[in-house]
Parts: sequence; structure tokens; C-alpha cells
Amino acid sequence: MRRVLSAVAWPYANGPRHVGHVAGFGVPSDVFSRYMRMAGHDVLMVSGTDEHGTPILVLAEQEGRSPQEVADRYNRVIATDLADLGLSYDLFTRTTTGNHYAVAQELFRVCHANGYLIEQTTRGAISPSTGRTLPDRYIEGTCPICGYAEARGDQCDNCGNQLDPTELIEPRSKINGETPEFVQTEHLFLDLPALADALREWLDGREATGTWRPNVIKFSKNLLEDVRPRPMTRDIDWGIPVPLDGWSDNPHKRLYVWFDAVVGYLSASIEWARRLGDPERWRAWWNDPDAVSYYFQGKDNITFHAQIWPAELLAYAGQGAKGGSPGGYGELDLPTEVVASEFMTMEGRQFSTSRGHVVYVRDVLDRYGPDALRYFICAAGPESQDSDFTWGEFVQRNNSELVGGWGNLVNRTAAMIAKSFGEIPPCGELEPVDQALLETVRAAFAAVGELVERQRLKQAITEVMRVVGEANKYVADTQPFKLKGDDERERLGTVLHVLAQAVVGINTLTAPFLPHGANRVHRVMGGQGDFMPMPRLDEVADLDRGSAGSTYPVITGDYSGTPRWECTPVVVGTPIGTPTPVFAKFDPSVVADEVARLSGVDERAEVATRQGGGHRERAEVATRQEGGHGERAEVATRQEGGGAPGGVPGGGRT
Ligand code: MF3
Ligand code: ZN
Repeated sequence: MRRVLSAVAWPYANGPRHVGHVAGFGVPSDVFSRYMRMAGHDVLMVSGTDEHGTPILVLAEQEGRSPQEVADRYNRVIATDLADLGLSYDLFTRTTTGNHYAVAQELFRVCHANGYLIEQTTRGAISPSTGRTLPDRYIEGTCPICGYAEARGDQCDNCGNQLDPTELIEPRSKINGETPEFVQTEHLFLDLPALADALREWLDGREATGTWRPNVIKFSKNLLEDVRPRPMTRDIDWGIPVPLDGWSDNPHKRLYVWFDAVVGYLSASIEWARRLGDPERWRAWWNDPDAVSYYFQGKDNITFHAQIWPAELLAYAGQGAKGGSPGGYGELDLPTEVVASEFMTMEGRQFSTSRGHVVYVRDVLDRYGPDALRYFICAAGPESQDSDFTWGEFVQRNNSELVGGWGNLVNRTAAMIAKSFGEIPPCGELEPVDQALLETVRAAFAAVGELVERQRLKQAITEVMRVVGEANKYVADTQPFKLKGDDERERLGTVLHVLAQAVVGINTLTAPFLPHGANRVHRVMGGQGDFMPMPRLDEVADLDRGSAGSTYPVITGDYSGTPRWECTPVVVGTPIGTPTPVFAKFDPSVVADEVARLSGVDERAEVATRQGGGHRERAEVATRQEGGHGERAEVATRQEGGGAPGGVPGGGRT
């Protein structure tokens, strides 16, 4: 048994999540966490909504609301969607809690006391026309490193390097195109050069395990080629106050959103323990060097999980070149694995909220349920290379693999048992064909488990479906529907017993991927209640600010009843009734309907936009580069005053 921290990227609370988002951080982290619990590990899976930063502030200003109101709204929307998708968080909270503020400030204070947050005067951008500060990501220009013309002030999406807006060649405001003016401003910089050796040592150790995806370790090591101090404060009115004398009372200076967001993994673990009434419990996942941690995200987050967060942890522990000593949380474990996925496109194009070229998780759940979406993401998601979501493939895989392959096996097994015996019949003498199938099912546990543990979900689910195929072939080979004579009844019982055993075993194999479906199969096969525990939404008060304030939803759950990762023997005599279908076919006509829903943007409109000044083209590039993170581009597009050409069918959610 190991302590396993599943640290899942925190979605921005600036809009509902779309399929690209949950393909990156959501479903893969849940399959892994559910499997690890089944394998007997002690999993703590935490996340929440990321509620600071400029996009939320900008959205709030456009809507004439407070940023907290915007965050409240999308925190609720996102938590509901992720719970309905079955993501089994131990705690899904948010970054605007009293607990998170306190933990983030503690990290900052100790990093500062240890000497790793250094004050520097820098040049910050303001908009000459409004006099207001212009956040980094609202400035763009040519990348000084690779020459990409649409680099953002904080990062170049072409070469992936972090940038400072003052480094951009020909900087311009994304909001109105004007040239920003740079003024003197004080900030606290994370002294990455003083932490570089410690970071390199950690990364070398990680590389030696050979378990990171090659592109992730390569990118992470490359980051060390050019380490500079990075500002961890911002000139902005929304965020966590800087917890230092002379700073904390200045409402215009806040912690950089990424400094606080990554601390969320720790603060959520602490909140989880506090809510449990066992406030030190989180330490087993954080202070024990034998505990392991897996960080799930899209590839645009690698910098923050493979450099900034480990640097914060090392600085907090005083383990850089400047020494120092840890604060009250002690020495905190660095990430074991940074599991970053590639990007997903939709019908051959990048997701774009502003253009309506997007499919929201909520809509898929309402129209098709969670199983088909989870199945598609596992079987065809952007695990180690970019992938494309198409409605055609979504429907086809559902109909032929989930329904035609697996669902059909379950339903005909249960139907034959119901008709001939009404209960699971006893097993007579096994023939080689029976033994072969049972052995195939049993052997799959080790194979599939190992693949999931190594984050190879695509191969893992392919292996499960191969076993389904073997079981269907067994039906064709043994032809139980033809075993009608009295002298064949014992053989019929044996075949159906073997099939029942295969179905129950395969159902366990599918359970991390398809927990909802697994619960239905479980009941069809005579089981009671749920097989896989499901997350629930609770309405809670802030632990520190008292219940006088408003409540907020958290995802939580009791996963202690999780079944073991093993081929549990079926019980002879278990009653089996006539089954209802466990998975539903989708009418192929939905493909055309869904594609039509996607967007009113036709190719001509797109070309016109491209030629018409390029703002939207830039927004599109940003979305493509950010994979699932269309909201950034959307905010940018709105800033430019543009509605989506051709209208935004179904895009009225934000
Ligand atoms: N909100 C970020 C994004 O969607 C992810 C933050 S992960 C965190 O890209 F842990 F840092 F919060
Ligand atoms: Zn670049």
C-alpha cells in the first residue's frame, strides 16, 4: 500500500468546461485514481477551481459584477459538471477559501524568509489611454527567442518559453492594439537561479526512473537551460494579498495567480483533513518521502508543475543555494510524476468558445451520459499525441465498441441465464475453451493494471476491449443458444457460468474507466447497490470565515467501499432477471445535428476574419496552442469587441 496524491489541475472559474478540458486533466486522473484505490493504495485526489487572475477580473468587469460573483457562478457550474462526469475527488474546492489564502500566504512568507523571494524593481506595462496596468497576457508581440509573432507577454505559445512582456519585440495591447507604456514597479521575484541546482537534482532523479513521458521530461529539463528570477506578485486588484509588511495593505499588489494556484494541491489536502476532523492527516501524503504524487494537466501547464511548484516547495524547505529552514508544514514532497497530456481538437479545428466551436461537458452529459464520453477520452484522447474529437467517431465507437461489443456481451449473457436458469448456474467440468477464457480474463488484471499505473490508458482500454472480443468469440465458439437438449443442460450451465464469470471479471476491468456503466452491469449480474462509489456534491461553509457568508459546493466522496482489483468469483445461485440494456446506441443522425450545432462559422467567414486585421486569428492561435484552454482566447476576443462571426449557436453559456 502506498500513499498516492492525485493532484489534478485546477480549472479556471471563468466558464463551463468543455470536452477538451476534461480530456486533458479530468478523465485520465479519475481513471488512475480509481484504479489505484482498487489496487489497494491510499489515494488522496484533490483539486478545485482556480479563481484568481486576469481572465476572471476582465470577465467580471465586462459583466458589471464582482470577480467573486463570477467565480462563484462558475465554481458551481464546474463542480456540478465534474461530479456528474464521475470524477472521484476526495475534495474539489476552490482558491477563494480562507484556508487557501492562509496556506498560500504561509508558503509565500516562508519562501520570503528563506531568501528566495527577492524584491526587484521592474518595468510594468500600463495602457497609455486608460492609465491602468496591462497584465502580461494582454500584451503580445514577437518572441525574442523564436521569432513567433504572436507571443504573449507571459509565455510564448510557439516555443513554450516563459517571457517577460518587456522582452517582447514590438509589444502591443491585445485589448486595443496600442503600444503599452512601461513604468517602474516593485515586485517579489522567485529566485529560480538559487533553486536551479536543487531543481536539476530532483529532475535528474525523476528522469532516471524513466517513467515520465519523454516530451514532458525533455521540456522540463529544457526549462533549466534559462533560469531567471520570476515575478510572483502582480499589479492587480484581484488575488491573494501579499503577506509582507509594507505590501499587505496595498490593494493593488497581489500574489501572482500561478503562485497561489499550485499551492492549491497542498491547501486542498489540508482542507480535506480539517473537514474530516483529523487536521494533521494530510501530512501522510506530503511529509513522507515514500508517498507518491501524480500531477495531471494539459501540456501548457508543464512549466508550472515541473518548475514553479517544485521551486516553491524547495524554497519553502530551505533547500536551495541560500539554505533556510522549513515552516510549519515541514519538508514537503516534490512531484513524483508530472502527467501532461497533449491537446485535443474538435472536428479538425481547435476548440474556440468565442466561435461556438466547442462542446461543453454539460451538453454531452445531458445528451449522451458520462460513459460514452469517458470511453472516447480513454480510447482516443490526447494521451501522448494530439488527437481529434469527432462526433462521427464518438458515435461509432459508442455504438460498435461500447454497445455492440461490451454491452452486447453483458446483455446476452444475462438474458440467456435469465431464460434458462434465472440464477447463476453451477459450473460443471471445464473444457479447454472455458479455461482459456477464464485465464484470459484473469491475466488481464495484471496487464491492464500496469498500463493504467503507467498512464497508458489508451492501451489499457484496448486490452480490456480485446478481452471483451475474446468473450464474444467464446459465445460464438460454444454456441450456448443451441444447447437445448436435456443432456446438454449441464454443459449449458457451465458455459453460462463461465460467461457470467467473464462478464463480472471484465466489469471490474472496465470499472476505473466506466464507473457508471460498471454499476449498471453489476446490478444486471445480480449485484446490489453500487459497485463503484460515486462522488457527491456537498454544500459547505468556509471553514475559516464562518457560516455567516454564503456556502459553496464541494465534490467529495467516501471511496472506502471501492472493490478490489481482482477477478471476484461469481456466486452460484445469484438471481439474474431479464436485463435492460446497459449501454445505449446513438442514432447516427446525431452526428450531423451535432456538427451543425457546433458553429455558424463557415470557411468564408473564417477567411474574411483572417484577412480583416488578424485579431481573431491571434485568438485562434492562442486557443490552438493552449489546447483545452479556449477561455483565454475568448476573453481576448471579447476584449477586441468582436462577436463570433455567424453567431454563436449554443455558445450562450458564458
Ligand atoms: N487554471 C489552470 C489552467 O486551466 C490550471 C491551474 S493548475 C493549478 O490552465 F494547480 F496550478 F491550479
Ligand atoms: Zn517563442
